[in-house]
Amino acid sequence: MTSSNRYLTSWEGFWGSVSGAPGEVFWDADPAHAAQQDFALFREHFDPQLPVIDLGCGNGTQTRFLAKHFARIIGTEIAPAAVELAGKINGATNVSYRLLDVLCPDDAERLHDEIGDANVYMRAVLHQLSPADHAVAVQSIERLLGEKGVLYLVELSSAAEPFFAKLIAEYGVPPGLARVFQHQITPGMLHEDNLASLFSSDRFMLLKTGPSHIRTVHSLPTGEVVQVPAFYAILRRQ
Ligand SMILES: C[S@@+](CC[C@H](N)C(=O)[O-])C[C@H]1O[C@@H](n2cnc3c(N)ncnc32)[C@H](O)[C@@H]1O
Repeated sequence: MTSSNRYLTSWEGFWGSVSGAPGEVFWDADPAHAAQQDFALFREHFDPQLPVIDLGCGNGTQTRFLAKHFARIIGTEIAPAAVELAGKINGATNVSYRLLDVLCPDDAERLHDEIGDANVYMRAVLHQLSPADHAVAVQSIERLLGEKGVLYLVELSSAAEPFFAKLIAEYGVPPGLARVFQHQITPGMLHEDNLASLFSSDRFMLLKTGPSHIRTVHSLPTGEVVQVPAFYAILRRQ
């Protein structure tokens, strides 16, 4: 099985099992917290004239939030079930959803031919790809950005692994995470120290980076909402 087929099988299975009821999807934080926390960081860097691609948009929760701030949003996904769900529960007149495997740079090139340079918002997508696939994903992103686009990424950091280990040891596996594991999807990470080699300085300019978190829908018995350690980065092409 090629790696794309592996992601497609797992994620199609996952999204096909989601009904759209609130709280089912572990990382599906209310965008009042999630995209808004990101928006404050990238708003000054995104040219509002450009379309915004929500790459690996899942069920479109954050996509619809982005649509409140930008004229045209395109949510892209590997899984047809995610596109269908997003269209049903997170539609808006300035949002469209379509299939795009981030591991197919030629498809990214075709989208760029169609819409021109775009800003890219990517939340919790690279970390779940195998490290061997990161470079190809970056090629696709590079094509989508073109000359003027800016990338905002927020991905689990190296602190996420010990965080999950402690969480599970203390409280067991949260139901939302168990649903992910059922589909052979395991949270990985994109080590923040590898950012510079992945987005090399001869091709990309790092505008800003820093610690962040991915807010989840899971609350601990203490009432605290689980927020997984993450980092953000804002990059553009040289
Ligand atoms: C952890 S979810 C994050 C979803 C969304 N960005 C959010 O924050 O709600 C990761 C998403 O990446 C998508 N994905 C996985 N592999 C992909 C690939 N090769 N190309 C495009 N999307 C992919 C999955 O279907 C899933 O929706």
